[in-house]
This record gives sequence, C-alpha cells and structure tokens, in this order.
Amino acid sequence: APNISVSAIQADLNQLQSIATANGGNRAHGRPGFKASIDWVKAKLDAAGFTTRVQTFTRSGATGYNLIADMPGGDLNNILMVGGHLDSVTAGPGINDNGTGSASILEVALAAKASGAAFSKHLRFGWWGAEELGLVGSTFYVNSLSTADKSKIKTYLNFDMTGSPNPGYFVYAGASQPTGSVAVQQTLVNYFTSIGVQTELTEVGGRSDHAAFARAGIATGGTFSGAEVIKTAAQATKWGGTSGVAFDRCYHRSCDTTANINVTSLDRNADAIAHTVWALAS
Ligand code: PHE
Ligand code: ZN
Ligand code: ZN
Ligand code: ZN
Repeated sequence: APNISVSAIQADLNQLQSIATANGGNRAHGRPGFKASIDWVKAKLDAAGFTTRVQTFTRSGATGYNLIADMPGGDLNNILMVGGHLDSVTAGPGINDNGTGSASILEVALAAKASGAAFSKHLRFGWWGAEELGLVGSTFYVNSLSTADKSKIKTYLNFDMTGSPNPGYFVYAGASQPTGSVAVQQTLVNYFTSIGVQTELTEVGGRSDHAAFARAGIATGGTFSGAEVIKTAAQATKWGGTSGVAFDRCYHRSCDTTANINVTSLDRNADAIAHTVWALAS
C-alpha cells in the first residue's frame, strides 16, 4: 500500500475548518456547513473518477445527506466498504470528530484510484450524515439496501476520530463485538506492530457507524484514537502524551479545531487504513 500523505489530509482538514468557519462554526446535521462539507468531498471524488451518489433523508425536520462513492472496477458481488461520519456536533467544527476519519478515507480513496491497482474486490466509500444524532445516516443507508445488496458488502471498515491530541492507538475488538472481524482486527494490529506502535483493543459498542452495519450482519472493524476517556499512566508510558488528561479534551467542544490534532496519530492511522484496504481488497 502507498504511504498516505499526511499533509494532504491536513489540507483537507483546513478546508473543513474553513467550511465550518464560513457557516456559523460547525458542520452539523441540518446546518449549511454540513451540506457544504458533502459538496466539497463529492467534488474531489468526482474529479478523480469515482461514481458518486448523494442519498437524502429527513431527521428532526431537516434534510440529511450521505455521500456514497464507488471506485470503478472489482467484483460487484464482493464489496469492501470504508466509511466515517462527516457531520459535527453543533458546538464546534468537528475536526478530530470526524474530519480526521473523513479526510483519511478520502485520501485513501484517491490513492487507491491513483495507484491504478486492480483490486479483486470492489471498493465503496461512505461519508455519513447525522451520526451525532444517533447513527442516523449510516442506519438509513443500510436500511435502504435490499437483502441481496447487503450480502454483497463483505466487510465494513469505520474510522471515527483518528487524530486525537493526546492519542491512544485503539483497534476495534473483533471477537467480543457483534460481527467484529478478527481478521480485520489482526490486519490493523499487524500494521501498527510493523511500525513499532502498541495497540489496545476497544469495545466500541454502538458508539459509531459500524454498528449500523453490524446490525445487518456485516463484518466490521476500525481504529480510534480516543475521546473523553482519561489516558492512564500505563497508556502514557507506551504511547507518550499526558496521563490524567482526556485523549481528546476538546471532544464535542468548540475547540475541536485544526489545532486539536496530533499529526503523528493522524498519519499512522491513515497509513493503517491504506494497509488494511490493500490487504483486504487485493
Ligand atoms: N462516535 C463517537 C462520536 O462521534 C465517537 C466515538 C468513536 C466513540 C469511536 C467511541 C468509539 O461522538
Ligand atoms: Zn503517511
Ligand atoms: Zn461525536
Ligand atoms: Zn464521531
């Protein structure tokens, strides 16, 4: 897999920050900053040759949007899907939550296309709306699929918060979660091991969009660099950073800006995503 350029991801995060700043400080469901975020990601994918589709739904009296992007090629009966939520909370611009996952999967998608690699699996990417209102967009997408179309999605990878300022390196637990994939877990762990980074398995439960896919029986996995939980002394010993402080002290706050990012965590996770996409789709 190619090394994903962290500066490209940072440029995307600057763009999402600008969108929030120009639209009342957030990119939340029902606010103009969310639709502007969708339009901006879509334009980049269209220019690169993806087949994109915007799916609409209604929640709390406002229109919500999901962006689905298919990379031409691969076996349409054997799909690897990669996603993350693009909406923020209303309190702030949502750059770590979840500009990071959104921009990282965007750059992995663009790198996959640019590589010219002939993946045996078909690659599909999703940017979800209204995750912050309860996994609304991802649930709408999964429910919109026929039983046959659901069964074509063999694995769903989810990325929600990958650049936390006081990061941990968490991999979604495979065996202990509904439809958690031990194979995906192991592929992600192996990547971090190869770059000398220790990981912990985490029970994400219903806290992000993978849960919508799990409810449909689709195998899931992902990574996470931590939110409101406090880093322990043992975790600071293995990962650096500050014990006694949250992984992301700006979680769901106005200070979740481009200043709220650990670039090393952002880079390592993006490269882990690419490694895993190449490993699972080839
Ligand atoms: N989904 C949570 C949010 O958007 C963040 C989170 C991600 C929590 C992954 C746990 C695990 O607020
Ligand atoms: Zn990189
Ligand atoms: Zn959130
Ligand atoms: Zn999130």
